[in-house]
Amino acid sequence: MTKTVFLDQDADLSFLKDKTIGVIGFGSQGHAHALNLKESGLNVVIGLYPQSKSIEVARKYGFEILTNDELAKKADILFFAAPDLAIPEIYLTHIVPNLSAGKILVFAHGFVIHYKLVVPPPDVDVILVAPKGPGHIVRREYVQGRGVPSLIAVFQDKSGKAKDIALAWAKGIGSTRVGVIETTFREETETDLFGEQAVLCGGLTSLITAGFETLVSSGYSPEMAYFECLHEMKLIVDLIYESGISGMRFSISETAKWGDVTVGPKIIDGHVRESMKKVLEDIQNGQFAQQWIEEVKAGKPNYKKLLEEGAAHQIEKVGAEIRALFPWLKKRNLQGVQAAYESC
Ligand SMILES: NC(=O)c1ccc[n+]([C@@H]2O[C@H](COP(=O)([O-])OP(=O)(O)OC[C@H]3O[C@@H](n4cnc5c(N)ncnc54)[C@H](OP(=O)(O)O)[C@@H]3O)[C@@H](O)[C@H]2O)c1
Ligand SMILES: [Mg+2]
Repeated sequence: MTKTVFLDQDADLSFLKDKTIGVIGFGSQGHAHALNLKESGLNVVIGLYPQSKSIEVARKYGFEILTNDELAKKADILFFAAPDLAIPEIYLTHIVPNLSAGKILVFAHGFVIHYKLVVPPPDVDVILVAPKGPGHIVRREYVQGRGVPSLIAVFQDKSGKAKDIALAWAKGIGSTRVGVIETTFREETETDLFGEQAVLCGGLTSLITAGFETLVSSGYSPEMAYFECLHEMKLIVDLIYESGISGMRFSISETAKWGDVTVGPKIIDGHVRESMKKVLEDIQNGQFAQQWIEEVKAGKPNYKKLLEEGAAHQIEKVGAEIRALFPWLKKRNLQGVQAAYESC
């Protein structure tokens, strides 16, 4: 290991004990951090805008809910768990007018700080606690006595205790049960964006869809294509997750191993690696961030259109039919965090 891994014994919850923790937003990360911190014995209050659909959900879990202005005054620590591009407006309109010296600003992703969409005054602490997993898994793992690893980073250390506070937070959400490593806002932002675009979300969904379309357009049935290109993906990824790429290869046939090592590099070839490099450059030079900011300013027309096209794709229709064959597959209600949480 080149990095120090912080575990339970390296973190002390008492750095958060006498503080009021304000969580802005109650979505994927917000609900997970709020519930985990509360069950770790800490004092958590939620901030939401007046018409938020999350108000009812947060209230159901017994939280006190304030407006963002009230929260900014009351809480010692402010955790920004609203969508990244909603944060600058929340910060300028509701937090800045109510922000006093000595407060602690916490982020789950470095985006707004790294790209300078939020520029905090020098008299506050600014820290990052970024779980390396979706919020619903952060919650699910905590409930099961486990945790999701987190990255921590310190951008400003006014109190001299910023790193202790970040470690305490990571402990409160369950991350020190598995491991926490320290990074910078820049490294977290750039690697997180690269990972989700090129590999985890963008790369993966495009790979699955391209494989599915290749089979279906060559006359194979959509059900076969779904099983081959999507369903089995989880089974293979589970093996990689548990025992690495070589561990997964231990479980597949010799023929599959030969296809893996000889054909894989022809698919993810030099051209794909060039594209990955370009994607990383656009993240590093701020071009991706700028385009996303413009898209949000325009009311997200392309975002909505492309997601709708994805949802209408044949793979989703056949997928819903196939998943109905597996009664033990947990049905996720995709309308809100509440039902998703209940299924955890
Ligand atoms: N999703 C993940 O698993 C993940 C992983 C790592 C890091 N992060 C980071 O975590 C942060 C939160 O992302 P998320 O995906 O958890 O968000 P999300 O699921 O989209 O939830 C956003 C929450 O913020 C609320 N909200 C929207 N505008 C608000 C405002 N003006 N004031 C107060 N609350 C507001 C939403 O309320 P409504 O219900 O009314 O819309 C919702 O409760 C981001 O920085 C993101 O990069 C997320
Ligand atoms: Mg991300």
